[in-house]
Amino acid sequence: MSPNGGHVSHAGAASSTREGAASSTREGAASPTREGAILSARDVSIDALRGRTIAVLGYGNQGRAHALNLRDSGLSVVVGGRPGSEKVELARREGFEAGTLAEAAARADLAIVALPDQAQPAAWGKWIEDALPSGAVVGFVHGFAIRFGFITPRADLGVVLVAPKGPGATLRARFEEGLGIPALVAIERENAARTARAFALAWGAGIGCARSGLIETTFAAEAESDLFGEQAVLCGGLLALVHESYALLVEAGYSPEVAYIECCHEVKQVADLLYARGPDGMRRAISDTAEFGAFVAEQSLVDEHLRAKLRALLADVRSGAFARRFMADYQRGHPEFTAWRRAASAHEIEAASARVRALMPWLRDA
Ligand SMILES: NC(=O)c1ccc[n+]([C@@H]2O[C@H](COP(=O)([O-])OP(=O)(O)OC[C@H]3O[C@@H](n4cnc5c(N)ncnc54)[C@H](OP(=O)(O)O)[C@@H]3O)[C@@H](O)[C@H]2O)c1
Repeated sequence: MSPNGGHVSHAGAASSTREGAASSTREGAASPTREGAILSARDVSIDALRGRTIAVLGYGNQGRAHALNLRDSGLSVVVGGRPGSEKVELARREGFEAGTLAEAAARADLAIVALPDQAQPAAWGKWIEDALPSGAVVGFVHGFAIRFGFITPRADLGVVLVAPKGPGATLRARFEEGLGIPALVAIERENAARTARAFALAWGAGIGCARSGLIETTFAAEAESDLFGEQAVLCGGLLALVHESYALLVEAGYSPEVAYIECCHEVKQVADLLYARGPDGMRRAISDTAEFGAFVAEQSLVDEHLRAKLRALLADVRSGAFARRFMADYQRGHPEFTAWRRAASAHEIEAASARVRALMPWLRDA
């Protein structure tokens, strides 16, 4: 049974994430997170945040969706941004009371830090930490800054995480449909009033995520698995396969359009099947020829070399080497990042992509 009397199922956390969880525990009350439990709308409610003020710090991809969903759930939300922020103006046009990060933080019972990860430490030190009332709860949307030690919150603050597993636009769209996307929830530290856990669960309910499930985890497990997943599969691994396979087909004499359609465009059909049905369901939905070929290719591609590369990515994530490299590049003005972005944008696949996407007018506003 859940703490509130509802039913709780188990996601089954790996032992490595439990080790990571231990490594992130800081001063203050021990984390009461029940790792792997899945809470639903039957288990949680927004009541703990009724009559409280939620400061959403940052009104971008995630912050806007959190602010709109929490307001539509009947909760009191103010928005904060850096001086001159265009997003603060947008928040005002969308009916929020909005001001500086310090002004919003000063009113917070729960302050949600929805700034880019690399910008959080400086904003925290300059505008947020000193402004937060004693005993407030600070919430993060990704565990990066806490897990890798770029922010160490004041000892009186509760520290929690609600990380929706999708972009802000999807978080908002599902909420408007009466649905919600799953979110990971973690409680790093309770505050003296012991409202941190209740606020985190109410926040997860208020943005609609409890309608599908709030999966309890730790800052360490969320941060490490999120970084590894986006590097190994979702963004890095996928694009590596797309780029290499596209280049190989073009080099072998196939037209760029055909190469693009086969190696990139059709990712969506398969990703949609994987998303909706899982790997086995996806295999059942494709032709026998494709399925047989998939087994042949997986056996050929997966070897000790690939496993070693994946292990190295995970090791750099868990040791903090990746986080330090990213932050060091940011502090130097992102020279490495900018050079990679330029080179990637100039890749010949982009011209083929533009020609193929122009065939589908419905993609213009995507
Ligand atoms: N993007 C996603 O799909 C996603 C998914 C899950 C979790 N997250 C997490 O959500 C958090 C926010 O990410 P995001 O993608 O929503 O951020 P974002 O859209 O890039 O920016 C969020 C806000 O930060 C402000 N901002 C930008 N640079 C700033 C700076 N240097 N100092 C102060 N404010 C600055 C922006 O407004 P102005 O430029 O107008 O000031 C904007 O309001 C991160 O922890 C991220 O890892 C993101």
